[in-house]
Amino acid sequence: MQKIASPVAGCMRWGKWGAQYSTKQYRTMIDACLQHGINTFDHADIYGDYTTEEEFGNAMKEDLSLRDRIQLITKCGIQMMTANRPHHQIKSYNTSKEHIIHSAETSLKHFGTSYLDVLLIHRPDPLMHPHEIAEAVFHLKKQGKILQFGVSNFLPHHVNALRRFVEIDYNQVEISIIHTAPFLNGVLDNCLEHHIIPMAWAPLGGGLFNDDSSPHFRRIVSSANEFAEKYSTGINQILVAFLLKHPSKIIPVIGTTKVERLLQAKEANTIFLSREDWFKLWTAVIGEDIP
Ligand SMILES: NC(=O)c1ccc[n+]([C@@H]2O[C@H](COP(=O)([O-])OP(=O)(O)OC[C@H]3O[C@@H](n4cnc5c(N)ncnc54)[C@H](OP(=O)(O)O)[C@@H]3O)[C@@H](O)[C@H]2O)c1
Repeated sequence: MQKIASPVAGCMRWGKWGAQYSTKQYRTMIDACLQHGINTFDHADIYGDYTTEEEFGNAMKEDLSLRDRIQLITKCGIQMMTANRPHHQIKSYNTSKEHIIHSAETSLKHFGTSYLDVLLIHRPDPLMHPHEIAEAVFHLKKQGKILQFGVSNFLPHHVNALRRFVEIDYNQVEISIIHTAPFLNGVLDNCLEHHIIPMAWAPLGGGLFNDDSSPHFRRIVSSANEFAEKYSTGINQILVAFLLKHPSKIIPVIGTTKVERLLQAKEANTIFLSREDWFKLWTAVIGEDIP
């Protein structure tokens, strides 16, 4: 099992929910990522209204050697209302054993592969039973259909309930300079405590920090720009380096449609913010001196 390296390429915006890539464009992005040593791709069954996995799979099928060079993460557990799932009457969560197994097997078909590197439960489900999730994971692992398992958007109490039944390798949560809650709400501490690797979704804040009508964002951007200059780099590198400073070794999942931005995130692996500089950014985030 290969270790997942930073950054991961997030594919949510590659298909119907964003760039609407052709098979050729998927292939160009995949090749460009691999060429630069970015080999893990983050998906979910629902992306593109259940179409992005298959589109990505179509691009992979063009070269059978690709699968061995790629690590695939996908998620399950959200049921969306869309023309592709006409039997769904309301948006809901489903973490039943049957649904998890069915969803993972559907993802395998879409990708045209026999295994997923990582399967995540997309959101905590108010009706979830940890034992049932564990049974699904054991079944899928025993059949070699998933290599690793994790969760997404789980708070420490969700993780703690589930990890009594099954090993959790990852928790993928929203973390960025404009969404810093996991630094203080126990999520990252819980990861450290149980050797769970945190992945950060929307680590660039979806580009929202560019909104200069917000004094809060303006303060953050001004501080990040100052450090971009000091460390002779760009703002995206600083935003990612801010996350990488945390001892839990956060892996950013960058949702860009531009290879340059993935490379900027990779470059962040070589930027080591001093503790004081990190706190200068933190002070810009909270808008006042720390207590
Ligand atoms: N587990 C979950 O619940 C969950 C939820 C949401 C997302 N995800 C995963 O996380 C990945 C990343 O999330 P995300 O795409 O929402 O957020 P993101 O990686 O923070 O941001 C990507 C978006 O921000 C834009 N952007 C980034 N830097 C910019 C800059 N300096 N100036 C202007 N625009 C900039 C990108 O545009 P360009 O395309 O032009 O670069 C893209 O639209 C997704 O692809 C998905 O795999 C997981």
